[in-house]
Order: sequence, then C-alpha cells, then structure tokens
Amino acid sequence: MIDERMEIIGAEPVSTDCYRMTLQAHIGYADARPGQFVMVRIPDGLTPLLRRPFSIHRSRRLSASRTALEILYRVVGKGTRRLAGCRPGDRLDVLGPLGRGFSDPPASGPLFLAAGGMGVAPMVFLADRLCRDEKRRRDIRVFLGGRTAEELLCRDRFEELGLPVVLTTDDGSDGDQCLVTYPIEEQIRLIPPTMIYACGPPGMLSCIAGFADTYGIRVEVSIETLMACGLGACLACAVADRRDRQRYRHACLHGPVFDAREILLP
Ligand SMILES: Cc1cc2nc3c(=O)[nH]c(=O)nc-3n(C[C@H](O)[C@H](O)[C@H](O)COP(=O)(O)OP(=O)(O)OC[C@H]3O[C@@H](n4cnc5c(N)ncnc54)[C@H](O)[C@@H]3O)c2cc1C
Ligand code: FES
Repeated sequence: MIDERMEIIGAEPVSTDCYRMTLQAHIGYADARPGQFVMVRIPDGLTPLLRRPFSIHRSRRLSASRTALEILYRVVGKGTRRLAGCRPGDRLDVLGPLGRGFSDPPASGPLFLAAGGMGVAPMVFLADRLCRDEKRRRDIRVFLGGRTAEELLCRDRFEELGLPVVLTTDDGSDGDQCLVTYPIEEQIRLIPPTMIYACGPPGMLSCIAGFADTYGIRVEVSIETLMACGLGACLACAVADRRDRQRYRHACLHGPVFDAREILLP
C-alpha cells in the first residue's frame, strides 16, 4: 500500500457530470489488480475531511519509476464536486492500491463483463488486463447498461480492444430498451460463460448473483459501500456473510470484489 501525494496530469469531462482524471503515481500501481481501489483526498482544507474511494479505472506504465493512474467518477456530492474543480498540476493525497480485486479467469471458456452505470470504471481496467492474453480476447463479451445513452460510458475503450459490446438503456435512447441483465441471461442460455465479472447498482448485482445459483456459473461482483478509512479499521463498510449472517466482512479489506456466493447482497 502506497500513501502518496500525486500530481494530476489529466482531467477531462466524459459526460455532463462524469470526469476522467489521470494521476502520476508510484510504479507500484503497475501491479494493481482490476477491482482494487484508491482512497483520495484533496489536501488543501478540511472539506471533505475523509478520503473518498474510487476504483482504479486504468493503470499504465509511464516510465521505469512512474505509472499513469486513471479514475472515472460521477459528481454526486461535495468531495466529487471539489475533484471536478481540480486541474492538471494540482495534487491529491492518494492511498492505494487497496482491497481485493477480481480473480484470474478460468483457463478457458467465455467470459462476461457486466457493467451498469459507473460500474464501468473497474471493468475497463479488467478488460485491458484480460486482453493482454491475446488468446482470451475472443472469449470476452461486454454488457454495458445505463439509464440513458449518456450513461453508457467507455464503449469506445472496449471497442478499441476489439471486444463485442452489448448495449442497453432504460429509456431506449441507445441499444436495447431493457435492463442489462436480460441480454446477459439470454446469452447464458445460448453460450454459458465460465465466469461473469460484474459491477453496478445493487439490483443489477443481486440479479447477476442469482445466475450463480440458477446456472451454476462463477460470478464475481464488485460492490460499493460507504467507506471511511479503506483499511479495515472503522466498520463503515461491513457486509453480511451469506453463510453465517452473524458474521461480517469488510468491503474495503475482503472486497470490494467478492464471489457472489460469499456475501448477502441487498
Ligand atoms: C470500492 C469503491 C469504489 C468506487 N469507485 C467509484 C468510481 O470508480 N467512480 C465513482 O464515481 N464512484 C465510485 N465510488 C463511489 C464514490 O466513492 C462516491 O460517489 C463518493 O465517495 C462520493 O463522495 P462525495 O463527497 O462526492 O459525496 P457525499 O457528499 O459523501 O455523498 C453524496 C451522496 O452519495 C452517497 N454516497 C457516498 N458514497 C457512496 C458510496 N460509496 N456508495 C454509495 N453511495 C454513496 C451518499 O450517501 C450521498 O447520498 C466507489 C465506492 C467504493 C466503495
Ligand atoms: S472502510 Fe473502514 S473498515 Fe472498511
């Protein structure tokens, strides 16, 4: 784990309320796993006091000693609003890489990547890494869902990797007008994947977690909880264990990626 003051080297809007930020980071981030996250704080002033968690959106080597670390975020409150006001040259306090990321895929068979809304943030990193194995590229299928066309972020990044992308929106403004879980289940019936990786809103994750039981497929979900410390010290991120409801897991330490059968999703 690295605690570092990082310089912002890129900041751009990707939609009305979403931004991509690139930070110059320690070379240790070259070994980060997709699904891991960072805790970010703006160093000047007290608002907000606590760091905010963001998935690693991408990490690529800049030089022998530095990495370009990207985050993708939506403005929802005071912390993200302040982040959106930051410019290249500004510095942020960043702690990471934190948590448990997605595990390696099974040796063969189709792999589904399912992203809803901002859940796309870690999926781009995962797709990047999976595509390093040229032979696996043709096994990967991406499912991207959003409320509207504007919420379908990063489609271009998956297409640049040569991956097929199935799009859905709630209002039909792009792709099929349905929940993203419909085409996923349709595809499961045609060509069952050996693994589904998912990140998105709770309802989507519960539905996809259900596929693990119904179809006997391995499913990993990246969940979002409130997080105050990111280090296992405050209990803000507790999630109930599915087999023993008296037992809790820390999303920051044991997750945020869990086997869907391990935890009780809302
Ligand atoms: C492991 C992890 C990875 C994340 N990755 C990303 C990412 O890649 N991109 C991104 O945009 N967001 C991500 N989030 C969510 C992000 O941390 C919150 O949106 C952010 O902390 C909000 O800070 P704020 O100060 O702007 O909002 P606040 O003023 O603190 O809150 C505004 C509203 O957002 C709600 N909220 C705050 N934090 C969370 C949370 N963690 N989950 C659900 N609701 C929350 C609050 O209850 C409130 O209603 C992630 C969260 C976790 C736990
Ligand atoms: S965020 Fe503090 S224990 Fe997980």
